[in-house]
Amino acid sequence: MKEVARQARAGGRIVGLVPTMGALHAGHTSLIVRAKRECSPVIASIFVNPKQFGPNEDFAKYPRTFESDCEKLKQAGVDALFAPEAAEVYPKSFSTYVHVEGLSERLEGRSRPGHFRGVTTVVMKLLQIVQPHRAYFGRKDAQQARLISQMARDLNLDSEIVVCPIVREPDGLALSSRNLYLNPEERKAATVLYQSLELAKKELEAGERDALHLQSGVRRKLASERLAVVDYVEIVNAEDFEPVARVSKAGYVLLAVFIGKTRLIDNLYLEPGSPGSDELAFHL
Ligand code: PAJ
Repeated sequence: MKEVARQARAGGRIVGLVPTMGALHAGHTSLIVRAKRECSPVIASIFVNPKQFGPNEDFAKYPRTFESDCEKLKQAGVDALFAPEAAEVYPKSFSTYVHVEGLSERLEGRSRPGHFRGVTTVVMKLLQIVQPHRAYFGRKDAQQARLISQMARDLNLDSEIVVCPIVREPDGLALSSRNLYLNPEERKAATVLYQSLELAKKELEAGERDALHLQSGVRRKLASERLAVVDYVEIVNAEDFEPVARVSKAGYVLLAVFIGKTRLIDNLYLEPGSPGSDELAFHL
């Protein structure tokens, strides 16, 4: 992979990287489409990274659909696929980790200890191996994207981190490889994440800025679904993901909710308007 990427860079081409764990869906392909617009070659990676799963998490049962993933990547026009074995990525002697302090401990990091250390370590390795001009991540995992941007800045990486919008099902459910775990009843119930965020969006558009008020509206909506159990509902600023009392600048409404045994996350992005203005746009 290093050799392929090195040759592309030496030829003066703009290399794009789209890291994934496979079980590809339209969320993943949207990153590839964006990368294809801006880069050639586009390199995708598939690696179910053991280091970002906790001991009681779903590493063993995480969906692995390598054959159909390859088909999708081909159709999307990906130029090369990097799909290493775990023993290659983490040989026995492996002992160096990348940890972004602070931000890694909050929200997803609090619910999933060690998760982000695994993410930043593997993404750092992928960025080192490929050394892409641009690497593409989804806003579906807003905290992950923020952490990776922070790591790239802190460690002076040459890769630009590009964050892309969330792709959703027609009924609003954010696409996720873990949606495959949902039975039909749970799949229906899972739309409550989107519906609760939509409610917050409407209130924000009507001028509501009090975080507690917005949060309790979201919680009430989630509580109306029998199968939903809330892990967290937080309204945070976009910089360090600390909770805010009032919505006044860029940030997120973040959700983590269990539907049955499946833990799903989703968010509403509070996007800053033109520089200098206090205006916000709200993106699901
Ligand atoms: P994975 O869950 O496979 O996601 C790969 C990329 O696709 C991530 O950047 C994620 O945010 C993006 N993505 C997933 N669902 C999306 C959706 N509905 N809309 C838009 N983008 C979406 O995230 C990971 O893998 C791993 O943590 C990884 C970064 C590959 C490191 O192991």
